[in-house]
Amino acid sequence: MLDKIDEYLNDVAQFSSTNKEEIEQFRIKYNSKKGILNEIFDQFKTVPNEQKKEFGQKINTLKQIVAAKLDELKDSDNAGVQADKEDLTRPGFPLELGSRHPISLVRNRITEIFKSIGFAVADGPEIEDDWHNFTALNLPEYHPARDMQDTFFIEKNPDILLRTHTSSVQIRHMENNEPPIRILSPGRVFRNEAISSRSHCIFHQIEGLYIDENVSFADLKQTLQFFTTELFGKSKIRMRPSYFPFTEPSAEVDVYWGLNSETDYRITKGTGWLEIMGCGMVDPAVLKNVNIDPDKYSGYAFGMGIERIVMLLHQMGDIRMFFENDKRMLEQFNAL
Ligand code: DAH
Repeated sequence: MLDKIDEYLNDVAQFSSTNKEEIEQFRIKYNSKKGILNEIFDQFKTVPNEQKKEFGQKINTLKQIVAAKLDELKDSDNAGVQADKEDLTRPGFPLELGSRHPISLVRNRITEIFKSIGFAVADGPEIEDDWHNFTALNLPEYHPARDMQDTFFIEKNPDILLRTHTSSVQIRHMENNEPPIRILSPGRVFRNEAISSRSHCIFHQIEGLYIDENVSFADLKQTLQFFTTELFGKSKIRMRPSYFPFTEPSAEVDVYWGLNSETDYRITKGTGWLEIMGCGMVDPAVLKNVNIDPDKYSGYAFGMGIERIVMLLHQMGDIRMFFENDKRMLEQFNAL
């Protein structure tokens, strides 16, 4: 009888199959009601007492090894089923490519347009001091126009703040460079404003500055006309008198958008004209502040908000869309 069990042990150890039918046969042979294990357990009663211990250990070993084998076969059976399901020849999942943010795209387009006529990009810090953001731009302390731009202060006395406009880069550049100067400075600006569909605390501007001998208002107008033609395909502009402390005279620039569709009526409030930026001739007081001789040099400056231009170009109605990072919006700019 003991020899018989040894044979079974061998048989179980050697059994191997991935065929479901064969595995089931193996289970029936050893583990079913009328299987070998139950048969041997039945015979246990007839084993003489002195052999019971050795016999008992052997049957237990057999029982364990049958259970282990069935487990093992079940696993390999599962693996087989899995492998049947996976089609390894299928192509992989496509990699999703990101897209550039519409603000970056339009900023790049605007910079390219001005680069093509000789402007270089200049950079400046987002954390500024009072001098570069206000005082040197002809906005001394207590000047009422400071209220036009609600400021986030970081430190008081001396004031350190988040720049409220990119005009601060004009001052930095003029302090460190001699005319002729022809720069464009795109960047983030900050204002302490209530967030609504048309305004936000962080937004983007592009500043332009040209300083040389004999720069005139006509040069400014021609440059801006070239710009609107390139960007919007619209060459009709007008300049309305306005006020900025750092330019004299100052103007607001409108582009003639037309009245061809209902949207045109809505965004231009029925006038056909759209305001796109502020500009003017650099105030001699500003030139003096950066040690440029206003009797020898003159120049123009302009500044525009990028968000507004993106909204015009892509007919977007709410500035908050730029900051929500909703993929459904961003994906639409993939192809640009
Ligand atoms: N700094 C102005 C603003 O943030 C925009 C501006 C207007 C810039 C006229 C200029 C300019 O350079 O000449 O509202």
